[in-house]
Amino acid sequence: MAAENPTILASLDALRAGYASRFEAAATEQALRDENAKILGKKGELTAILAMMRDVPADQRKTVGARVNEVKTEIESAFEKRLKAIAGAARKKELEAPPFDLTLPAREAAPRGHKHPLSIVREEVVDIFVSLGFQVHDGPEIELEENNFGKLGYPPDHPATDMQDTFWTTNNLVLRSHTSNVQVRAMTAHKPPMAFVAPGTVFRRDDDVTHSPMFHQVEAFLIDRNVSMAHLKGVLAEFAERFYGPNTPVRLRPSYFPFVEPGAEVDVACAFCKQADGTRRGCNLCKHTGWIEILGCGMIHPIVFEACGIDPETWSGFALGMGVERLAMLRYDLPDVRLFFENDPRFLAQF
Ligand code: PHE
Repeated sequence: MAAENPTILASLDALRAGYASRFEAAATEQALRDENAKILGKKGELTAILAMMRDVPADQRKTVGARVNEVKTEIESAFEKRLKAIAGAARKKELEAPPFDLTLPAREAAPRGHKHPLSIVREEVVDIFVSLGFQVHDGPEIELEENNFGKLGYPPDHPATDMQDTFWTTNNLVLRSHTSNVQVRAMTAHKPPMAFVAPGTVFRRDDDVTHSPMFHQVEAFLIDRNVSMAHLKGVLAEFAERFYGPNTPVRLRPSYFPFVEPGAEVDVACAFCKQADGTRRGCNLCKHTGWIEILGCGMIHPIVFEACGIDPETWSGFALGMGVERLAMLRYDLPDVRLFFENDPRFLAQF
């Protein structure tokens, strides 16, 4: 019986004599952890010694147990200490290594996208109207014929409704040919007064250097009591000034649209051939007139109000609509509308 204690204590002494140099010999954290596992792990030497405690007679268990625990604590703290030493040495080595070369060129940044020129122009136009108190209004691109034409006063045989100009889907649905459908939508859904700006995509059977079958417009309209042509002209002058620059001359030319009366087309002074003294000599862009047409507008026709359930005796309003591609082509001096839709990065990267 007494023989068992010396076995435990002898093993304990042997372990105690050796662990320090074993830990010391471990050069890396992993090597140290492996060595530690050989002692304190599931099948470790000290674990085996602890298992032998079962055979120690009860009267000696306390002293032998205390001794085993003492050695265990000693080994554990030696392990922690050696672990810190190894980490410290690794850190020191890192700090003494040659520093990073901050002068090395950076890795090339991933190419970044940016706004399409049409988005830039559209947002600018919408922002101007929003700052004047207009609210943004949406409308569908596939529209009832009566919202795109009928309620806007187009007679059924109007040339614009012809197969040549408009994309028809079924008998009474079209791809909207202008954003003026939003006038009908807004007047049907809201009671006046109202002031809306409606950017959107529109479609016409047209395809050449200045026309694309899919293009973009911004519509703006205002309905209140006693709205006159003077209000329209004031808004147009303000728009021209903000979009093209201070003191940009604007002129209205009488024109016809079924849903306005009177109707007008708006020209701004051609920015391409403007002289220093403000006179214009004329160029190819303005066809030597000194003026460039930018939009259609007019006072909303009473028949439109009536079709939308608004009393034309009480309410009056103006509407205007412009083409985003046209504004962008003029702004950036571009010769071909198709450039906008080819998505050639060499073109798009220039904006
Ligand atoms: N809808 C017209 C077009 O597409 C433009 C316009 C809008 C004219 C509003 C007058 C008033 O050409």
